[in-house]
Amino acid sequence: MYSPHTYCRACGYAKPGANGIKSATTEKLVEVFDLGIQPLANDFHRPESDSAGYAPLKVIFCPRCSLAQLSVVVKPEILYRNYAYVTSPSTMMKSHFERLIHDIRDETGGNRVLEIGSNDGRLLSMMKEAGYSVTGVDPAENLAMEANSKGIETKTGFFGEELAGNLSQYDIVIARHVFCHVDNWVDFVKGLESVSHFDTLILIEAPYVGNTLKHCEFDQVYHEHLSYLNIQAISMLLENTCLRIHRVIEYPIHGGAICIMLRHKNCDIPSNPIINEHFTVQDWKKFSLKAHDQIGKLSARVENLIATGKTVAGLGASAKSTVWINACKFTRKHISFIADTTSQKQYTLSPGSDIPITDEGAILRELPDYVIMFAWNYREEILKKFTKAKSMGVRFIIPVPELEIV
Ligand code: TMP
Repeated sequence: MYSPHTYCRACGYAKPGANGIKSATTEKLVEVFDLGIQPLANDFHRPESDSAGYAPLKVIFCPRCSLAQLSVVVKPEILYRNYAYVTSPSTMMKSHFERLIHDIRDETGGNRVLEIGSNDGRLLSMMKEAGYSVTGVDPAENLAMEANSKGIETKTGFFGEELAGNLSQYDIVIARHVFCHVDNWVDFVKGLESVSHFDTLILIEAPYVGNTLKHCEFDQVYHEHLSYLNIQAISMLLENTCLRIHRVIEYPIHGGAICIMLRHKNCDIPSNPIINEHFTVQDWKKFSLKAHDQIGKLSARVENLIATGKTVAGLGASAKSTVWINACKFTRKHISFIADTTSQKQYTLSPGSDIPITDEGAILRELPDYVIMFAWNYREEILKKFTKAKSMGVRFIIPVPELEIV
């Protein structure tokens, strides 16, 4: 189901020699955060089907380029062939896409777009409406089918050098929240080189490790997120390629993301200054202590509520919810249901805990005393939506960045 990951996928630190034998140096990635053995975060399964299983969830750190990465790689076929995560239809996501399109327009007048990890085609639909010619690639057969049915041409497959060989060249290549899911970065970058020309603008958007560390967003750590992106690592990865970092933009989406724009080294548009960053093993060790403290606090609070006869539900069956629930060892005894807008997730069970997922209306129907907002990254939007539930006495527990009850 998974294989060990022992060397840095960005700079090659601790990589075994050509014949697979470890070099004589004592290079080793450093263990910085451990959540033990955990279920796969998006394995929302029907009661009648088995769960996909469990794997270690441990972060190791590269002392050379500061890239934090997971110690194992779960087989991508298990994670993505039938994928439960659908791009959020939230207003926050819609405004993010509007801003992204605006920022792309600012950079290039190009028209031909390739999106890697295009999910159900939500961004590409907006780009198509804005006049772009669009193509998507996604490994999830269920989502590619949905996108194609909406008129967004989507190919099924894992992007890399081989798949790129069957594609043409594009003016704009977008990889949102997919680079951090990829194991073989060298192969992925070869694919990017192959689908781009001298003037192509490439956008890599991912959660930014600076935000993950600063706000202790430990729920970003799950098996799909193989790497926790920092700019220095990407810069070292690109050293022997024809690509360079052109510009870095920070966005508030998904708890704080960066968009790293790449251009060809011999494109004459100059690069912008990039964020000055420095991450250390100590930063991660502090993060680990704080994360375990946060887990203890939420766990104690919920145990206490249950002991005093209160009812607790969850909102947002996000991958983050699975991380929290299993870290806190919550079961149905603690959380009676998790409400979510995604139809594919409704009537399934939360991985590891088997807490049932319901539609969002369950909050008003059941009126639990407390609702844990696992989709805390859409906080304001959700609080606004549930004004009525709040006026009827429902209180929201927001776990990130600090435990808060509103
Ligand atoms: P994400 O943070 O990975 O986008 O996941 C958020 C999850 O929360 C996703 O399954 C959709 C769900 N959600 C709701 O159920 N209601 C909402 O209002 C929002 C914004 C998200």
